[in-house]
Amino acid sequence: MNETTLKEAHILLVDDDVSSTCVMANFLNRIGYSHLESINNSTRTFEIIEAFKPDLILLDLAMPNISGFQVLEGLRANRHSEDQIPVLVLTGDASAENKRRALVAGATELLVKPFDASEVSMRIRSLLQARFLRHEIQEQNHFLEERVRERTSQLEGAVESLQAAQRQLVQQERLSAFGEMAGGVVHDFSNALMSVIGYSEMLLTNPAARADEATALEYLRIINTAGRDGAHVVSRLRDFYRPRGAADLFESLDLNEIALQSIALARPRCSKRESDQSIRFETDLEGSATIAGIGAEIREGLTNLIFNAVDAIPGDGVITLRTRQQEDDVVVEVIDTGAGMSADVRQRCLEPFFTTKGDQGTGLGLAMVFGIIKRHQGTLEIESEPGQGTTVRIRLPAFAHSPETQQSEVPHMRGCAIADHHFAQLATSA
Ligand SMILES: Nc1ncnc2c1ncn2[C@@H]1O[C@H](COP(=O)(O)OP(=O)(O)OP(=O)(O)O)[C@@H](O)[C@H]1O
Ligand SMILES: [Mg+2]
Repeated sequence: MNETTLKEAHILLVDDDVSSTCVMANFLNRIGYSHLESINNSTRTFEIIEAFKPDLILLDLAMPNISGFQVLEGLRANRHSEDQIPVLVLTGDASAENKRRALVAGATELLVKPFDASEVSMRIRSLLQARFLRHEIQEQNHFLEERVRERTSQLEGAVESLQAAQRQLVQQERLSAFGEMAGGVVHDFSNALMSVIGYSEMLLTNPAARADEATALEYLRIINTAGRDGAHVVSRLRDFYRPRGAADLFESLDLNEIALQSIALARPRCSKRESDQSIRFETDLEGSATIAGIGAEIREGLTNLIFNAVDAIPGDGVITLRTRQQEDDVVVEVIDTGAGMSADVRQRCLEPFFTTKGDQGTGLGLAMVFGIIKRHQGTLEIESEPGQGTTVRIRLPAFAHSPETQQSEVPHMRGCAIADHHFAQLATSA
């Protein structure tokens, strides 16, 4: 703190004795203090304090009207905690009781007359220094508080816009996931509808099939399965934001049976081909191929693979479904003698919306299959070379080793159970 600041201090002298205030004022002037005010009638003390705003009060105790003690008490009653005016009491009464009363009443320091000039000067200086330092600290505090407030509100703003951006991102991701999923639902629902339409048309246009009760029943069962699978597909829309629940529990599934059902469901796709081109289905199904899963989804997956195989066979060809048990897994392969894939197509074929079929394809089939297999804790491999056909290999944990069967009791096969022989017959009657 520089000297000039100190000497700018406002000092108020309160003493009923005019000569005392004159002597003190002269002394203060001599040592450099020029902003001085003296009061000899103590009744005006508070009014002058209000107007003069002293940085220090030099106060006599023994005064008529309002004594120095009353001034101290008045100051204490009025003072703001932030702005305590220091009071240097100057008294002729050196008794301990007088000192105690003055200090209790709020005096900052006390000097007994007659004074030693250098001591008075030193006390005044140190009281003013302390006051100005306190002011500086208070100003610094205010400044820092203001900065903290500013920074806090800037940070709050930044956090808020970050949260808004995050919310928007989550919303966008949800929307795009929803769009992808909705596309998949449309894709698989159309597949299910194709089976419903194909088999119902066969019944409607073929009186012989209607007359043969076994065949009619067989077709109706396939229509029923396709309808139920379609309903399952649609439920994916409803379940989008819902975690998997009890209704989605994995069941014990015979993969051989599902392979045959899938061939039957996919068959209407083959009938759309040119009549002189034929596709033969072959099956190589090993004895036991039980897995834990959701039947409708596995059927959907295999049907999609068969559709791709059908599309990949330009003329005559063979599609083989093969199952076998390998260590703790059941492996199912869909093998076609079709056109195969280039390295680039093979790399990209699982991407949602990737298709080489133009308007004829959505590019969602393999992405859906991949999702289904992942949900069943399985893996998917694709072997394909241009002109050499394609093998899609799915590996699923065998029933006894499925993580699902370890966690929960698996209910028996529900819903769309269709007798093996109907499908076996259909599958081999290509
Ligand atoms: N068995 C296959 N043989 C040759 N290419 C295939 C085979 N399976 C898939 N592909 C290639 O992978 C691409 C993506 O297949 P995906 O099933 O995801 O979509 P898509 O079949 O084109 O359309 P959608 O499934 O809607 O009919 C196909 O367009 C095709 O180029
Ligand atoms: Mg496809």
